[in-house]
This record gives sequence, C-alpha cells and structure tokens, in this order.
Amino acid sequence: MEIKPIDGPFGCVVHGLDVGAGVDAETCRELHQALYDNRVLVIKDQVCDEAPYLAFGRQWGAPIPHVIDTSRMAGFPEMMEVGNTSPRAKDELKRNSAAFWHTDQSYDADPATSTMLYARKIPDVGGETRVIDMKAAYDDLDAGTKQRIEGMNAMHLYGATAGRDGEAPTAQLNENQAAEVPATPHALVRAHTVTGERALYGVAGTAIGIEGMGKEDGEALIAELKAHCVQDKYIYEHKYEIGDIAMWDTQMTLHSAKPIDAPSGPGTERLLWRISVRGKPAVYQ
Ligand SMILES: [Fe+2]
Repeated sequence: MEIKPIDGPFGCVVHGLDVGAGVDAETCRELHQALYDNRVLVIKDQVCDEAPYLAFGRQWGAPIPHVIDTSRMAGFPEMMEVGNTSPRAKDELKRNSAAFWHTDQSYDADPATSTMLYARKIPDVGGETRVIDMKAAYDDLDAGTKQRIEGMNAMHLYGATAGRDGEAPTAQLNENQAAEVPATPHALVRAHTVTGERALYGVAGTAIGIEGMGKEDGEALIAELKAHCVQDKYIYEHKYEIGDIAMWDTQMTLHSAKPIDAPSGPGTERLLWRISVRGKPAVYQ
C-alpha cells in the first residue's frame, strides 16, 4: 500500500490496497491516521461487492441507516445509493439533495465521523464532490473572531438552510422522519473525537442559529463564518474515477455535491454507494 498527497490543497490518495480482500487492523490504523492528517482519502481501483465494502465501513465506526428510509439500499439498509440512476433520482430534489454545503448527520446529537462513497458509475462530465478543510479555515480566523465564537453552540435542523445562498434546495422530511431529528446543538468550534484537534463545525447546511442569540444575529454570524470557509483556498474538488472509494473526515470538513442532470445516454450515469459512520474506529475503542 502506498499513500501519497492528492492533487489539490489537501487530501491523500491510496494505491495498492484491495478493500474487497479485507483490511487488517494495522493497515486500517494507517488509513485512519492518513484520513485524520489529510481530511480526505481516496482509495483507487477498487472492485468490491456490497458485503465486503460494508465490512470495511464498519472498521471506521457504526454505519448509520439514513433518516430518509426510502433511500436505503435493498438488503443493505446502512448503505445508500447516491447519484442519478435510481427511480427515486428522477425527482430533481432527491437527485441533488446533497448539492449544498453541509456535513453528514450534523442534525443528529451523535453526528457522522466519516463518510465514504464508492464510485460504481461516473459520468464523463460533472458529478464531482467538493470538500472544505474546516481546520484550516478555523486556524486562519483572526484572534478576535476566535475569541468571539469560543464556547458558542449552533442549533442544527435537517434541511433547514438548503436553498440559501443560491444552493440547491433539498427534499424535506415527512412527519415521522422529522420527529426523529429535532433541532440539536453542536459547538461552533468542535474538538475531533479521536485527535482532539479543533475546527469550525457545520457552519452551513443545517445550522439555523446560535444558542442564546437572536435569530438575525445568529444567522448573520453563521453566514459570516460560512463565507470565510467557502473560499477556494480551503476547497478540494474530487473528480471520481470508477473504482474510487473517496472518504472524508466529517468532523473536520464540509462537503457539497455538484448538481447533475438525469441520465441521458452513455457516459451520463452516476452511481455511488454511500456509507456514513458514527463513533470511533474499532482500533481506538
Ligand atoms: Fe453529505
């Protein structure tokens, strides 16, 4: 196995690993460290079925069945099909429901710690994922801003801010789904549960306000921090190749999918298998 820097401002790329054959604990620890050091990790050239892929996902934490239960994969409820090929994806809102800056399960009290997407079908044009390094963005804040936001909590609610700032709107939850995920607080500057490193957390997507602050002031602060984070210098854009397993550290990043059209012939289909996990990898427990 070889781990090298990826072509971009941050991230790394892994060659010479066969996830389908099973990954031993020592190799897995190397991968965890690479993800924590680089935020993004792309494992190239994988040929792997659902079961071994899910087994690999479990080595990173507990896979999360998505709150939108209709998007779970048949036979594998902890996995989700992402892209434009499923019947569900005919609906533009559902097809592009991740085309806004967010981090996964920030609307949950116990949010995701990493997310991986395994590229099965990739269009010739489009379909990239963009990722922001939120530790770099936090480190660059001036001392006054760091002091001002220290100790603050943002409130997070599923889908609440999609469609803002020219981003894509997202599918809304039905009543039962919404009841499962009421608004929940997270620290604006949150410590990574394994490394302890601190980064700005979730200042987009689900963040609806600041605890103990008026609505307007809270929204203005979130908008100010988001505007800082979405600068090009903090963004890596991943152009997938078939066989990529791309992962990011959801505690230290935001991500956004580029909107795509419905498939219209060869070279236009996009299908990725998504696993999001929460909690610590087994080797740290
Ligand atoms: Fe996401």
